[in-house]
Formats: sequence, structure tokens, C-alpha cells
Amino acid sequence: MKSVTIITHPLVQHNLTRLRDQETGPQEFRRVLGEVAALMIYEATRSFGVAPVAVQTPLARTRGFRLRREVVVVPILRAGLGMLDSILQLIPHARVGFIGLKREETTLRATTYHQSLPPDLGNFEVVLVDPMLATGGSTVAAMDLLSGLGAKRVRLVNLVAAPEGIRRVRSHYPDLPIFTAAVDRKLNEKGYILPGLGDAGDRLFGV
Ligand code: PRP
Ligand code: URA
Repeated sequence: MKSVTIITHPLVQHNLTRLRDQETGPQEFRRVLGEVAALMIYEATRSFGVAPVAVQTPLARTRGFRLRREVVVVPILRAGLGMLDSILQLIPHARVGFIGLKREETTLRATTYHQSLPPDLGNFEVVLVDPMLATGGSTVAAMDLLSGLGAKRVRLVNLVAAPEGIRRVRSHYPDLPIFTAAVDRKLNEKGYILPGLGDAGDRLFGV
């Protein structure tokens, strides 16, 4: 079973606190979420496979590395979109897949309303992106889709996780590496993370 990596870098924690603050409006929330995603992706992609290559510098021939596999970044709509642009700044050659999921307010069950993914994910490094891991239903639904398309190398980049959600994801996908900035206390009776940051999609987009 893979452990959860909590990214404790001071810049990540500083930005997370800005995002938690209820006074942070959508404009700043978008900017800060992008900044924190860029910081987190550096850590989350550390295990990408590389292959040795020869390279000719202006002065000599030497050895270097290239990424072994294609990369696909998959934001879970809507809130995952807030992390996408800054990740693409760092991995500009990545492809982008989308999974649209909506958590029903009373049952908390996630239903899929959109899917746009490369057909054979077996050869890709997949970066699944969603700022919130609450009950874990959305992550498990996304992982079911990705696994059904043959994905073998997926890592989740998440901002705030609840212990309940981590347990649920672990029970379905014990080997999924989870990178998060915080594991919070618990879920409230409506399935929101405490202390959390509220509804990430609403705070990003203002609706
Ligand atoms: C939020 C969030 C996650 C999900 C987490 O999305 O962005 O995708 O809830 O909850 P879970 O772990 O209990 O499934 P939501 O369904 O509210 O959609 P939105 O991003 O479009 O607002
Ligand atoms: N989705 C969110 O955006 N926030 C939560 O706290 C739980 C689910």
C-alpha cells in the first residue's frame, strides 16, 4: 500500500492557508490555486520514469535523460480545472484528458457527465488532479474510468484530503500515490471537509 505524501513545503502551506481563508475571493483563489498546483506537481512527478539518451552539446557529447512515457494530465471537472494551467506550464508537452463528475448533494454519490481521455492509457504517466478528496467517491469513480482504459501509472494531486476519503480510495486502489497539502480532521454531516476550504468549485468560479 502506497503512503500519502503530505507536501509540507512552506510555500505550499502558505498558499493553502490563503485558500482556506474565507476572505479570499475567486480572483485570488484562482491565482493561488494555480501557484500551489505548480509547487505540488514538482513533487508528484518525481517518480516519472526516464530513459538515458545521448546529447551533443556545443562542446562535447554527453549523456542525459528524457521522459520515458507520454504524460496525460486529467483534471476532474470543475475544480480540477483550477490546477490545470499551471501544471501545463511545467509539462507543456502533456496531453489533457477530462473527467466531469458531480457529487449529488444528499446521497454524496458522484455521477459522471463527461469523459474525454486517450483510448489506451497503459503507456502514459497519468496525473489525476482534484483539489478536494472528501468521501473519496469522485476519486474512485475517476480511477474506475482510468483503470478501465488500461491506466497503470496514475498519481493523484490533491490539495485537501479527509481521512474518510483516503480510507475509501485506499480500499479500492491501495497502490495509488496520493500527493496532498493537508489531511484534515474529518467530514461534516454534509460531506464537507473540516476545516477544509469550503466548496472548491464554487470558490474558484464564484457560483
Ligand atoms: C467536489 C470536488 C471533488 C469532489 C470531492 O466536486 O471538486 O471533485 O467534490 O468530493 P468526494 O470526495 O466526496 O467525491 P463537486 O462534485 O462539488 O463538483 P464541482 O467541482 O463541479 O463543484
Ligand atoms: N467538495 C468540496 O469542494 N469541498 C469539500 O469540502 C467537499 C467536497
